[in-house]
Amino acid sequence: MGTLSIINARVVTMNARAHNGNTAAQIGARHGAAMSDLGVIENGHVCMRDGVITSVAPGQPASLVGEVIDAGGRVCMPALIDCHTHLCFAGNRWSEWEQLRAGESYESILAAGGGIMSTVRATKQATVTALAQELGDRLRALANLGVGSVEVKSGYGLDWQSEMKMLNAIGEAAKNSPQLVVATCLGGHAIPADNTAWPEQFAAHVADLARQFPGVAVDAFCERSALSVQQCREIFAQAKKFNVTRRLHTDQFNSMGGVAMAIECGATTVDHLEAADENSITALAQSKTIAVLLPCSVYALGGAYARGRSMIDQGAAVAVASNANPGSAPTIDMRFAMHLAVRHCGLSTNEALTAATWNAACALGIETKVGSLQVGKRADAIVLEERDERALTHGFAGPPPRHVVLAGKLMSYRH
Ligand code: NIG
Repeated sequence: MGTLSIINARVVTMNARAHNGNTAAQIGARHGAAMSDLGVIENGHVCMRDGVITSVAPGQPASLVGEVIDAGGRVCMPALIDCHTHLCFAGNRWSEWEQLRAGESYESILAAGGGIMSTVRATKQATVTALAQELGDRLRALANLGVGSVEVKSGYGLDWQSEMKMLNAIGEAAKNSPQLVVATCLGGHAIPADNTAWPEQFAAHVADLARQFPGVAVDAFCERSALSVQQCREIFAQAKKFNVTRRLHTDQFNSMGGVAMAIECGATTVDHLEAADENSITALAQSKTIAVLLPCSVYALGGAYARGRSMIDQGAAVAVASNANPGSAPTIDMRFAMHLAVRHCGLSTNEALTAATWNAACALGIETKVGSLQVGKRADAIVLEERDERALTHGFAGPPPRHVVLAGKLMSYRH
């Protein structure tokens, strides 16, 4: 793979507490005020060999061999991590876009069998190969925008065969992707009208998931138009029994007690939280569960943004993701998600950077591999066009990073 060095950079390491001698695994997600600490090296370098970071330090490297990128004072930081996407799907939702514009709500479209269910119908018909190919194209587009690790959910199958088909397609695409791809089984995404027992059936399949797809997390959508708290609890109980990581879409439109249940069941993340009430936010802040904010879907659907400021002020660990999907968040742009998190959820730029790198890695359980520029980690780094990281959340709709390096390989070189 060779050697690559990025020199003359403002290095945003995200390795803020390395001086304590702690390893990434010991540190865990950053909560509250710790989210502001970026570990910046004003003028430094990052060296990589055979896909692994070998040096991160001030000044010039001791020797320069192999490929060299002179950043000219620009920001070099860890590649972004998108910890919540629905990028494996077939079909499109352009007619739903027209329905939304005509005044229908996302929930009423879903209740009438459209929305998520229309993507389920299209995805059920697609082959593993077709799904993997389309997903591969989308992953490449994300790589060009500086995303080095991506979570991809199933959830458009909603029967066990089709959920497995999606997980196999995600695995196929991952093999050919320059990124670190993390699959999640979103079997509890919705309840098909022709099989209302699906949530209970999915709970019974969690044992199969643990056996056939080790390391894959479970996820569900706790909402009036989707699964009840009790149905999600049942899925989580099985997941806990088989040591499967738990994640929950909750409080997107209604606060039904999903956050409290998820914390009680030891969920790694609760995602959305636009409608989270004060008690839920306080409980979250006192827990280890990471709050994943998904502001792109609020931008697309309208409504109130999640109260990220209050969460962080009370001590929560917050991550930000694109929520890329064909319906509520038709975007792949993490930079836009970070911009919205600052503009509308009240995060500072430093907090948004932590939310899109270190804390996102923790949400996926991959913080020992990625999420910071640290010797021994996967060599995933981006060089921005800008010389100050505040520009990353100030600007929206571009520009993409000047350079993207994934596993030590230069992906794009403009200029
Ligand atoms: O996180 N809310 C539920 N699931 C996705 C949307 C999926 C879709 O609309 O297809 C979300 O927003």
